[in-house]
Amino acid sequence: MSSVVQPIVWAKDRLQLLDQRVLPHAVVMLDCHSAAEVAKGIHDMAVRGAPAIGIAAAYGLVLDAQQGLDYDSAERVLAESRPTAVNLRWALERMRRVQPRDAASLLAEATAIHAEDLAQNLRMGELGAALLPLAATVITHCNTGALATGGHGTALGVIRSAHAAGRLKLAYNTETRPWLQGARLTAFELAQEGIPGKLLADGAAAHLMSSESIDWVIVGADRIAANGDTANKIGTYALALAARAHGVKFMVVAPSGTFDLSCPNGGAIPIEERSARELTEFRGTAIAPGGYAAYNPVFDVTPAALIDAIVCERGVIEQPDAAKIAALLG
Ligand code: MRU
Repeated sequence: MSSVVQPIVWAKDRLQLLDQRVLPHAVVMLDCHSAAEVAKGIHDMAVRGAPAIGIAAAYGLVLDAQQGLDYDSAERVLAESRPTAVNLRWALERMRRVQPRDAASLLAEATAIHAEDLAQNLRMGELGAALLPLAATVITHCNTGALATGGHGTALGVIRSAHAAGRLKLAYNTETRPWLQGARLTAFELAQEGIPGKLLADGAAAHLMSSESIDWVIVGADRIAANGDTANKIGTYALALAARAHGVKFMVVAPSGTFDLSCPNGGAIPIEERSARELTEFRGTAIAPGGYAAYNPVFDVTPAALIDAIVCERGVIEQPDAAKIAALLG
């Protein structure tokens, strides 16, 4: 397991969330005592990354159950915290099936969700790394590592496993505007473990693909529709288009909880839009003319036709389509 500091720590009567907004310069744990506080931590991006917010939400339900608070209200406030990553809804649905619905049983389920996520990531790491050539050079986007999951990571888990297996030459990682998950978090994880990484401005990826030999673009996912269309951090679609134009392969790495078979295609996936200020300001300082409008979708959808492989803990789907996905997920 990775040595990176843990983003989600259960502490008997509170949930500690590593505040990812201040990394890499400060390591601060936020104490959450209720589902509402966890929901705020998710909404405000203290904890982020599709699997991590599902895990945090599961523990949030335990906090309210410990205090005898209404289950439905706790579930509602958590479900409304962020819209795109389906892992959140998946975790809440799994928690709802727990019987009896008491704090101890809910805690056992939340702990299981947390532990299973790590095991799934380790498996996906092996499967994904096996697709890479020796001395692979890859590009990844956003943060999909131990900080975004129950440990090891999805796309970054493949990069970790490839490094451990001696298959990785270099991982370029995008800055990931506007929250800079790549510059602050992915670079932090890679540097901590001595994995060769290089930071890339988001807009430099197509130029890099045109001027250097890149083997794979490797990304995570926030929701995968029944036909394989994949929602992930804004900028993923542009990377997929550039990859196809330059003959670079494109891999999506996500556990089965990230698939949403109720969405027939990417058009049905809700895309979160966040405040314009995330673009017009940087840490409270204006970087655009005062009052200037901004459009800030924080996810986009990559059509399945641009994806060469989806790596899931249940197996690898090459050239994904609805039939292959239905067969894998049973
Ligand atoms: O807005 P974020 O930081 O929660 O977005 C995270 C991503 O888009 C990741 O790529 C995704 O959750 C998949 S892998 C953990």
